[in-house]
Amino acid sequence: MSNKQEIEEQQKFIEKVKEYTKNKNYKYFILTMGCQLNENDSEKICGMLEKMLFQKTEKYEEADIVLFNTCCVRENAEDKLFGKLGEIKKIKEQRGTIVAVGGCMMQEQHIVEKIKKSYPFCDIIFGTHTLHKLPEDIYNVLKEKKKIKDIIDIDGEVYEGLPIKRNDNIKASVTIMYGCNNFCSYCIVPYVRGRERSRNASDIIKEIKELSKEGYKEVTLLGQNVNSYKGNSEDLEYPNVKNFADLLMEIEKIDGIERIRFISPHPKDFTDDVIDVISKSNKICKIIHLPLQAGNNEVLKNMNRKYTKEQYLALVEKMKKKIPNIVFSTDIIVGFPGETDEQFEDTLDVVRKVKFEQVYMFIYSRRVGTRADKMENQIPEEIKHKRFNKLKELVESQISENNKKYIGTIQKILVEGSSKTNENMLTGRTETNKVVNFKGDKELINKIILIKITEDCQWYLKGEI
Ligand code: 5AD
Ligand code: SF4
Repeated sequence: MSNKQEIEEQQKFIEKVKEYTKNKNYKYFILTMGCQLNENDSEKICGMLEKMLFQKTEKYEEADIVLFNTCCVRENAEDKLFGKLGEIKKIKEQRGTIVAVGGCMMQEQHIVEKIKKSYPFCDIIFGTHTLHKLPEDIYNVLKEKKKIKDIIDIDGEVYEGLPIKRNDNIKASVTIMYGCNNFCSYCIVPYVRGRERSRNASDIIKEIKELSKEGYKEVTLLGQNVNSYKGNSEDLEYPNVKNFADLLMEIEKIDGIERIRFISPHPKDFTDDVIDVISKSNKICKIIHLPLQAGNNEVLKNMNRKYTKEQYLALVEKMKKKIPNIVFSTDIIVGFPGETDEQFEDTLDVVRKVKFEQVYMFIYSRRVGTRADKMENQIPEEIKHKRFNKLKELVESQISENNKKYIGTIQKILVEGSSKTNENMLTGRTETNKVVNFKGDKELINKIILIKITEDCQWYLKGEI
């Protein structure tokens, strides 16, 4: 069956499920763990569920189906899932709620075994490559009350045309490629998401044009490794889109979209053509997420990152030269096997030099099946935490120093809505992703306006129109 036929087949299952759900006022609860790619998958899950007449609820106690879209990048996400499944058990016994567990963790055999053994009440277990078959899985549970395990280990395909229910009506995420071929030694993603595969440019551009029509102003292009994007020369509409730079240029042309972001590029693949496109673009935000992971060359080598500290810093310098006012955010792992205190100092050194706008900091977490998990010199938890705190201190001091630079400047803000903590204030973000709160009329929501920054409140800035 072709992918298109497969989606049409699922459309039929949506209709069949509706025979069970119509006039029943069924509700669904979904918990999404992990990255924006998972969030985007969940938007597709919600899209399918709403087509099957389930309505969203924030309380799992009143749901008829509870779904978990899981992450396995670090251990704490696993602990969270098992805790939640423990809570759900009682509700399941009382109400007969359908329980579905899917996503990255389900691509790990030892996890599926554990669920089957310790949480046998789960009705549906689905993987990252079978998400589109949820209507069929739900139908089988409703009709035949049978337990479904729908996981495949192959590298997965690209399915177009799934319904989608977006979380936000100002900013949207658009996945441009799936999977990863890099096999960084600490990372489980290549094992659970399969090899790299790109969507056709025509499908991506069609989706973004629709978003623009619906009033969206900002898109974030998603992929484990966006600058490995590869166009399809047989794409009827955009055969000339060969790589990420070409794709960015086409997206730039879409009227109505005013801001373009992308996560995450790999430093080793950040080519000059992409830098050129960013430098000429009016829409690509001048903040680049450039995962560093570590600053020491030996650690980087053991991580299989394929760049050195010097190459990373040279890339940053090159971008700073070519793109005025560019800033950076990053991901850093502390406590990778064998990392010494001295080697960790190299990471701090890069942080001091680049002065990142934002640093996502992670304590190294052993993942079964990865190369780093088999390395002998694992770092004791206590040392990992010490390093984490040292890094955090440095990052926080840099952020407050950095925030001061904004005071008195005029910033372009995309207004996102009312502030969560104060109904009378609006909130929005600068191009560099800083949250800014200010007084203003609700009519400004979903517009880009100029704000003068007046105050630094550590986690956000205050300003006035
Ligand atoms: N332990 C800690 N952090 C990890 N990441 C990926 N794998 C691990 C791991 N095993 C971090 C990396 C990556 C981010 C998404 O998660 O920094 O960029
Ligand atoms: Fe994991 Fe490395 Fe691939 Fe990122 S590039 S998903 S860190 S293997």
